[in-house]
Amino acid sequence: MCGIVGYVGPSVDETALDVVMEGLARLEYRGYDSAGVALIDGDGIAIRKRSGKLANLRSEIGAHPLHPSTTAIGHTRWATHGGPTDNNAHPHVGGRDRKLALIHNGIIENFHRLKTSLVDLGHTFLSETDTEVAAHLVATAYESTGDLTEAMRAAVAQLEGAFTLLAIHADQPGVVVGARRNSPLVVGLGEGANYLGSDVAAFIGHTREAMELGQDEIVTITPDSVSVIRFDGTPTDGKRYHVDWDAAAAEKGGYSSFMAKEIDEQPHAIGDTLLGRTDDAGRLVLDELRISEESLRQVDKIVIVACGTAWYSGLTAKYAIEHWTRIPCEVELAHEFRYRDPVVNQRTLVISVSQSGETMDTLMAVKHARELGALTISVCNTHGATIPRESDAVLYTHAGPEIAVASTKAFVAQITACYLLGLYLAQVRGAATSETVASIMAELGAIPPKVQTVLDRMDRVREIARFMADSRAVLFLGRHVGYPIALEGALKLKEIAYIHAEGFAAGELKHGPIALIEPGQPVFVVVPGPDTPHDLHSKVVSNIQEIRARGARTLVIAEDGDEAVVPFADEIIRVPAAPTLLMPLITIVPLQVFALELATAKGLDVDQPRNLAKSVTVE
Ligand code: F6R
Repeated sequence: MCGIVGYVGPSVDETALDVVMEGLARLEYRGYDSAGVALIDGDGIAIRKRSGKLANLRSEIGAHPLHPSTTAIGHTRWATHGGPTDNNAHPHVGGRDRKLALIHNGIIENFHRLKTSLVDLGHTFLSETDTEVAAHLVATAYESTGDLTEAMRAAVAQLEGAFTLLAIHADQPGVVVGARRNSPLVVGLGEGANYLGSDVAAFIGHTREAMELGQDEIVTITPDSVSVIRFDGTPTDGKRYHVDWDAAAAEKGGYSSFMAKEIDEQPHAIGDTLLGRTDDAGRLVLDELRISEESLRQVDKIVIVACGTAWYSGLTAKYAIEHWTRIPCEVELAHEFRYRDPVVNQRTLVISVSQSGETMDTLMAVKHARELGALTISVCNTHGATIPRESDAVLYTHAGPEIAVASTKAFVAQITACYLLGLYLAQVRGAATSETVASIMAELGAIPPKVQTVLDRMDRVREIARFMADSRAVLFLGRHVGYPIALEGALKLKEIAYIHAEGFAAGELKHGPIALIEPGQPVFVVVPGPDTPHDLHSKVVSNIQEIRARGARTLVIAEDGDEAVVPFADEIIRVPAAPTLLMPLITIVPLQVFALELATAKGLDVDQPRNLAKSVTVE
């Protein structure tokens, strides 16, 4: 949600603008309501900004070229305060002399009060944004301090809410100052040049050496220095790390979209998340957790908090976690958990699941859980993000950078990581024997080639999707672990194809949703394997018959060799067999491919669906 880039380089040339524009292109998935850049040139601050996608900013710069510079900032916006207009686009300028430019990600909650006082003092505002308040505050503080870092410190002391701010001042070329509270900012460490970004994608084309910043910290970069202080002015050090993926991983690599590439990367996302998790004796080892086995033995309740697709990964994992550990596991939307009165104490393990590690709702839920004394573990795909930093421990998924707004490979990696956590808990508490753990790990290890098999068979699903491009509504049914997969399949279709789609528990059908069935209504059904306990397979086959009898067009996802579905399916999408609890890693794939192909057939931008942004850093 809003992408931020900052750069300082060694000499005045074209580089600053190029670096920032390249960074914005890589961050555009964070928001695409408008884009803008500011740089310091001989005449002071030069700004170009335009509503709409980055292409509009490129045209604007083409029409009104910028002078070479060493120092630049850039922003791509997901609108919160003020519509997606040119005026509301960042950067915003501050000060009576208009020598300061500032960009922002987050929400300044007390902006209205601050704006009123600034207007009383004679400041004029050109936009409806909360950001412009920060620009004026930093600029005013600069007038008395003459130092951008100190000015930033004075300004952030007055702000409430969540923010990342970057500022440049015409009187201090070669300096970019950033500040962060509850919003992401990382430093890229170059040679003779340094970078700031909402995430490492901003500078991955230039350096893979990065530095994490803590909460409430201010960073000042020059071409050859990086210094960090806390909001109270005390010096501190950021944590350096090497980014384990390169620029190629954040490029389409010949695919028509990032989403298509990321769907295809799922065998690797699962395989890499499983990699190196067992010792020579076959025991599961989660070294990075760094939570004592004793603490894990005390746990008597698990709560998974997450949003969107990550929440569905939690809903999926619940079945396995409860089965393996025998600990009650609740799965809750982070924003609901945060604002009710949950029963959580020192014996509760709260697992947050987040691809970005920056989702504000999930972050707030984690903070709330810690205040209540819970043990917190973050399942996260982004190294050094805020949620893992604010948790007692982290288990990283290794899906690689996910750029498409609609989550796919992160989803399967999240399920995999939650399964690892569940199995580890079962092992530590003696709920599963080492033989059981080893055998489930072997079954998990066999999943990536099965996912590949599904991917190799998708031609017919693509055909069906193209044929259904003008559908008005599509329903998804599942039972047991197939239920969250039905929910996720529906979400994918909603968010990228803008088609009304709903997922239901197949058992719930007769309690209301069956009224939606009319002749020709397409319904995907995720069928459990014939060996699923409690004869769930036959129950779902009966559900298929019930909807077909009422005219539904049934699109059935069934295991190879499952003949019972044949008489009742208008289309059968075959997938390889796997143990029941692991099937979601396989059955989600056709639904992702279906949504992608249908949205593509409608001519939509599948990577940047309307109104959405990749990382939701506001509540
Ligand atoms: C849907 C999607 C979102 C995210 C949700 C949480 O395709 O991507 O629903 O899953 O916003 O995001 P993270 O995982 O970054 O916390």
